[in-house]
Amino acid sequence: MNFDQVQPVPQKRLSIIAPTYNEIGNVIPFAERVKSTLAGIDWEILFVDDNSADGTARKAFEYAADDARIRTIIRLDDRGLARSSIQGMLSARGDLLCVMDVDGQHDPAVLVDMIARLESDNLDIVSAARRLEADRALEGLSPLRQRLSTFGNWLSSLVLGRKLSDPLTGFFVMRRSSFLDVAPRLGDPGFKLLLDILYSNKKLRHGEVPFDFGVRTHGESKLDIYVVWKFVTFLLSKMTGGLLPVSLISFLFVGGSGIFVHFAVLYSVLAFALPFIAAQTVATLVAATSNFLLNNLLTFQDKRLYGWKKALGYLKFLAVSAVGIVANVSAATLAYERLVHVVFLATLAGIAIDTVWKFVIANRFIWK
Ligand code: GDD
Ligand code: MN
Repeated sequence: MNFDQVQPVPQKRLSIIAPTYNEIGNVIPFAERVKSTLAGIDWEILFVDDNSADGTARKAFEYAADDARIRTIIRLDDRGLARSSIQGMLSARGDLLCVMDVDGQHDPAVLVDMIARLESDNLDIVSAARRLEADRALEGLSPLRQRLSTFGNWLSSLVLGRKLSDPLTGFFVMRRSSFLDVAPRLGDPGFKLLLDILYSNKKLRHGEVPFDFGVRTHGESKLDIYVVWKFVTFLLSKMTGGLLPVSLISFLFVGGSGIFVHFAVLYSVLAFALPFIAAQTVATLVAATSNFLLNNLLTFQDKRLYGWKKALGYLKFLAVSAVGIVANVSAATLAYERLVHVVFLATLAGIAIDTVWKFVIANRFIWK
């Protein structure tokens, strides 16, 4: 008799990747909850902390000093939920990798259902879908978040080409082998890693398990305007089939807002009966300044410049835009004087040339 055959199949090892940013009050309760809920499972926890100022990493480290199942990874650069999750998943030793929030909104008990589903249906990835029944107010989300969430859901399903009840959830478990396969193709979707994973391999066998999204226990949400911006530009980039990179899309949006600024200033200055060339110069400068500031905030958020570097970057932005500005002002002025006062079209043509030129230079020399 071959004893290998009667031995029970070794249980799969589970790695829980728990990204943290200023979660000092949550890490210990989270670990305690995992310990009590998943007692029958061979698990490890990897806290992936973006060097939180509140001492989250130290707290987790001290708490787990003599528990080898709990590790803490500290990151110093490119802060972000998706980026931290990816790093944690790459460093994990389990056969199954789970990403979840530490703030109490994701109940580790749901993991038992998720793993059972993954195994029984032989899936690659299972996500936990927040219950979104119309009659049930989502206690975990504000009304605005709910509406944004519904719209995001619709757009995401469109991009993915498959219908999910909750494509925006941050709670999922997947096979290590499937993750390693898609990992090199992942970008930076801000908070929406699940979406990027499903997009990167359309053949992944995926399932959903419903769960009740809890209420945050300590601290506050890290979801801000930059995270939303990252998500919107990420979706749009995917909608172009990746043809337009995320940063170019953001840059174009900023450029678009610059056009409004430009015309608003242009017509206001012209109203003071100043010469056209003066009005055009002021408008171009104000628009360039607004573009610089917005790009620093949104487009190059992860390479954002501060202090004197910001001042230097601004001067560089103006300097490298000078060619565009001169071309813009002279083309517009020429057209204005020679043609039948086509201020609008001439200015638009100038701005178009200027935008492309600036994007190339911005990537090379300013937000390197
Ligand atoms: N390392 C790291 N770096 N962790 C982060 C960062 C970051 O920049 N930002 C957030 N986190 C961690 C938080 O510490 C928390 O454990 C988890 O990621 C979720 O962050 P929250 O700030 O609580 O996000 P949320 O509740 O608004 O959003 C959650 O629900 C969304 C669905 O409504 C997340 O799970 C999202 O992924 C999900 O889409
Ligand atoms: Mn949360």
